[in-house]
Amino acid sequence: MVAVLVITGLVTVACSSTGGGAAPSDPLLAQGQQVYQAHCATCHGTKGQGGTGMKLAGKVAQNFPNIDDQIAVIQNGRSGGMPAWGKSLSADEIRAVARYERECLGTTC
Ligand code: HEC
Repeated sequence: MVAVLVITGLVTVACSSTGGGAAPSDPLLAQGQQVYQAHCATCHGTKGQGGTGMKLAGKVAQNFPNIDDQIAVIQNGRSGGMPAWGKSLSADEIRAVARYERECLGTTC
């Protein structure tokens, strides 16, 4: 019970510091969240629910069982309107945002 209260407190702090959804505790996922909100949310929605770009929440891990295939799409883009990010984002940023999309969108991570 005490643990639950502590965790709830931490999540509340994380929320108020980002002004939006809770920041993931894993630093890599937190970096991925920043990249996502800065570059991807405009098309894919702040929660990955879709918009101009397709829905990603709950889909990417299913559509790309191997994360490297997802990373290739992010790097090279797709003809259907997905921009290529290989030149504007570092390999680390792309891996971070790929992990964020797989592990955080559509969940409470
Ligand atoms: C200008 C709008 C736009 C932006 C910005 C954008 N995307 Fe996309 N994205 C799309 C569209 C449209 C598709 C569907 C392309 C197709 O399949 O033909 C797509 C597809 C994808 C897919 C494939 C999903 C699947 O299941 O097949 C991934 C992964 C993806 N985007 C990740 C990202 C990431 C990561 C970013 C930010 C770095 C991003 N997108 C930014 C428009 C966008």
